[in-house]
Amino acid sequence: MQRVLEPELMDDPEQSRAYAKADFEEENRGFVERFLECFPDIKAGHVLDLGCGPADIPIRLARALPECRVTGVDGSAPMIALGVEAVRAAGLADRIALRCERIQETVLAERADAVISNSLLHHVPNALQFWYAVRQLAKPGAAVLVMDLLRPDSPEAAQAIVDRYAAAEPAILRRDFYNSLLAAFTDDEVAAQLTEMNLSRLLIDVPDDRHWIVGGRLV
Ligand SMILES: C[S@@+](CC[C@H](N)C(=O)[O-])C[C@H]1O[C@@H](n2cnc3c(N)ncnc32)[C@H](O)[C@@H]1O
Repeated sequence: MQRVLEPELMDDPEQSRAYAKADFEEENRGFVERFLECFPDIKAGHVLDLGCGPADIPIRLARALPECRVTGVDGSAPMIALGVEAVRAAGLADRIALRCERIQETVLAERADAVISNSLLHHVPNALQFWYAVRQLAKPGAAVLVMDLLRPDSPEAAQAIVDRYAAAEPAILRRDFYNSLLAAFTDDEVAAQLTEMNLSRLLIDVPDDRHWIVGGRLV
């Protein structure tokens, strides 16, 4: 099945609220646990989260690593507003900074010690822009952990995944999940992107029927 693009930013207020309310506990906790397992030496420093949405992963990571600072970047103003609220409620405003901008425009005063991203790449029309941002914004030797959806073979297979994992979710979330599966990349496509961007030191894994994960350290 060919990739079908979905809108790059999730900047509809209702869509942002539905996303922020949804239960991504298992996925987001798993992502942070994987980061801690892969990079046990990272105890302090600056972690950059690309496409941070309502900041659930920055909050979990900042709690797990009390000496780390986290910057989250998202181009959606409603998502960032929800994130700012959540960060304040978590009492982490001194260590988590959120920026409303597209990752293609992000410039840091100093490159990050780690770059993470969950569920962003499928939104970006040109995937190479995403990997270029990872390379530009991370220090040499920085840790990288990126997870996203895996494009199924057919629209029917995508619908079956939505029915299996999101049957109880509101219609707006099921619609977004379906569209995201159609916009996602296959693991072969991601591997080719890494080769093209000279990032083949990063390794790709397919942990389940709907995700791929890329991790490792930059040269
Ligand atoms: C599916 S959400 C994932 C949010 C968060 N990472 C999580 O795991 O809960 C994708 C987010 O990426 C943002 N996004 C899409 N394209 C972007 C871009 N080019 N620059 C910055 N943010 C972008 C969207 O606005 C949306 O909030």
